[in-house]
Amino acid sequence: MARAKTDRGVKVLLRGSQIRRRVRELAREMERDYKGEAVHLICILKGACVFLADLLRELKLPVSVDFIAVSSYGKGSLPSGEVRITKDLDHSVEGLNVIIVEDILDTGLTLNYLYRILESRKPRSLRIATLLDKPARRVKEVKVDYVGFQIPDKFVVGYGLDYGERYRNLPDVCVLSSVES
Ligand code: IMP
Ligand code: MG
Repeated sequence: MARAKTDRGVKVLLRGSQIRRRVRELAREMERDYKGEAVHLICILKGACVFLADLLRELKLPVSVDFIAVSSYGKGSLPSGEVRITKDLDHSVEGLNVIIVEDILDTGLTLNYLYRILESRKPRSLRIATLLDKPARRVKEVKVDYVGFQIPDKFVVGYGLDYGERYRNLPDVCVLSSVES
């Protein structure tokens, strides 16, 4: 039987049920680490919105959220390391326990840049949670505190991740065969 085809050219890598279990585990880890303190989740738009929504509902801590959007240049070719904030946060992070919520850590350029920017805004603490990590592609070192899954160097979509704005609605994380490496 052909394994787990959900769409033409799309093959399941991580099932939605498996992701939900892992998100629950990450939430328990955060609850242990913050011991009832309030956390401020910063979602990197747009890819991390589904991860944020699931994580948020699992967390038994006082939680607030904010959103930031960035665009990077040089993606797919020579990573220029240039990242630009296209939508900044609505609220100050000063004095807050901030957790950056990202969909996927790839070259590390985005998170390396954002971490430095947010650190300069004087949060009480600053950590990073990423659902997926592709260590094979790292260009800039990033210290990540919570990782859902390490995945191979494949282009993935679904669970918020897109290819040309498509596929974000898939419940599973899937490999797109047409851009499979
Ligand atoms: P980085 O700066 O190279 O770490 O890029 C991270 C961003 O690139 C992520 O937030 C995604 O928006 C995008 N990205 C990297 N790999 C993938 C992928 O496999 N599928 C979809 N988007 C990806
Ligand atoms: Mg992203």
